[in-house]
Amino acid sequence: MVCPEVALKRQLTERQQRELDYHREHARQHQEILSTAFSWDVLQNPGRRWWNQYWQMYALLQAYDLNGKNVLVVGCGFGDDALRLAKLGAKVSAFDLSPDSLAIARALALREGLQIDFREMPAEQLTYADSTFDYIVARDILHHVDIPVAMREIVRVARPDALFIVNEIYTHSLTDRVRRSRFVETVLYPAMQRFIYGPDKPYITEDERKLTERDLKLIREPLQAPSVLRHFNFFVTRLIPDRFVFFAKLDQILLRVLRPIAHLLAGRILFSARIHK
Ligand SMILES: C[S@@+](CC[C@H](N)C(=O)[O-])C[C@H]1O[C@@H](n2cnc3c(N)ncnc32)[C@H](O)[C@@H]1O
Repeated sequence: MVCPEVALKRQLTERQQRELDYHREHARQHQEILSTAFSWDVLQNPGRRWWNQYWQMYALLQAYDLNGKNVLVVGCGFGDDALRLAKLGAKVSAFDLSPDSLAIARALALREGLQIDFREMPAEQLTYADSTFDYIVARDILHHVDIPVAMREIVRVARPDALFIVNEIYTHSLTDRVRRSRFVETVLYPAMQRFIYGPDKPYITEDERKLTERDLKLIREPLQAPSVLRHFNFFVTRLIPDRFVFFAKLDQILLRVLRPIAHLLAGRILFSARIHK
């Protein structure tokens, strides 16, 4: 008999396999999460951190009545969003490629007394039935996957008019050209990396690429016009860590003032849109 993990591995693309290997190791190095208290802070009045993309994602989510709704968390990692959405009363399904990350997510859900359907699978090949979900949440995952294939699957498992909520690292291709310039690559970026991440190795896989406006076009193809569209992280997280709250606020104010060109400047995008099918 073939064990399910071996069966899954056989179907993985080389990219998925590299992501899986990376995230298995990542999970192994973060076992301390299991003995750390889970933070529910963001669920209490998330609007108060108006400058922070993660808190704003929860402000957006909490504008909807999630109670009893079928919610899918795409590439759930250690399950943070799955747990938080379950706490808000949603019926949560969540999947990831990495069994080790899922083991952490399952242990946390058990510890917190939450029922969540966690499954191991690639975003490009989902095992859910057609038209299952009312809400689909993708945070920091679409830049790890084959976008057209994963989007076909997301649309398939979404109910008509399901809401798709996306929170992803992003860069316009023009800004990315600056990032790839020799000075930034060899001098500025290594120095900034040390400042932002300290001695820790940055959490970046070999295949991940920030979403560009071209990726966004692919993602938005099956969607209606966004009901919410926000840009974050102009210089924060690029030049200054987001723990410096004064600068994080200033960063968000600048992006709001410069809204017409925010899509050229931002390093992160948050939007929600109905899935058209
Ligand atoms: C940057 S983490 C984000 C995790 C989670 N969404 C969060 O925000 O905490 C990326 C996650 O995507 C998963 N992943 C990478 N490629 C994937 C794929 N093709 N299908 C499903 N999950 C994938 C990794 O195992 C990892 O848990």
